[in-house]
Amino acid sequence: MGDRPYVIDRMISAKTIAARVEELAREITDAFSHTDKLVVVGLLRGSFVFIADLVRELEMPVEVDFIEASSYGNSTESSREVRILKDLRGEIGGRDVLLVEDIVDTGYTLAHVTGLLKSRGPERLETIALLDKPSRREIDVRATWTGFEIPDEFVVGYGIDYAERNRNHPHIGKVRFLEPGAFDRPKAAEPRTHPQ
Ligand code: PRP
Repeated sequence: MGDRPYVIDRMISAKTIAARVEELAREITDAFSHTDKLVVVGLLRGSFVFIADLVRELEMPVEVDFIEASSYGNSTESSREVRILKDLRGEIGGRDVLLVEDIVDTGYTLAHVTGLLKSRGPERLETIALLDKPSRREIDVRATWTGFEIPDEFVVGYGIDYAERNRNHPHIGKVRFLEPGAFDRPKAAEPRTHPQ
């Protein structure tokens, strides 16, 4: 994989994402109104754009930390094995924590990482996922807040990759694979939204 020709069709625009992030930030600010300093934990790498936008909309003191987990490697299918590649720098015992995830698919990553964080005794642990694909769920988990529920499409952009590409697209796009050699023709049948 990775060498199949594809185009990216726009699914959720940058403007729509920004509006939703603002809404979610208001809800989170309300929910943690009694918290001195919220620990916002980004689940790398997919959440790096979302957490950057989200924390800038939170009207409260925050501390930012990261944890890196990997379940996919360079494949489009989940291996169902979650490995912690980088742990938090700070302690979360007795703290209020918000875990920020880009997408919940089978649910293995969210279940594993929330289990790990809970074992460290936070005062409160909530989760937020920008995207949720409920039709793919294999473990019964759901984030406290969800940006958008989406169908079972292969999505990229706004931090989410396809074989480590496309994380820098400002919108969420849907990967549409083409026949091999599609770009060899003088004119593609449909315009490429974002050539890669
Ligand atoms: C992706 C995504 C989620 C997870 C969701 O991470 O960022 O964290 O998979 O899948 P699941 O619900 O089936 O567990 P990936 O392991 O690809 O790492 P990345 O964030 O570094 O791209």
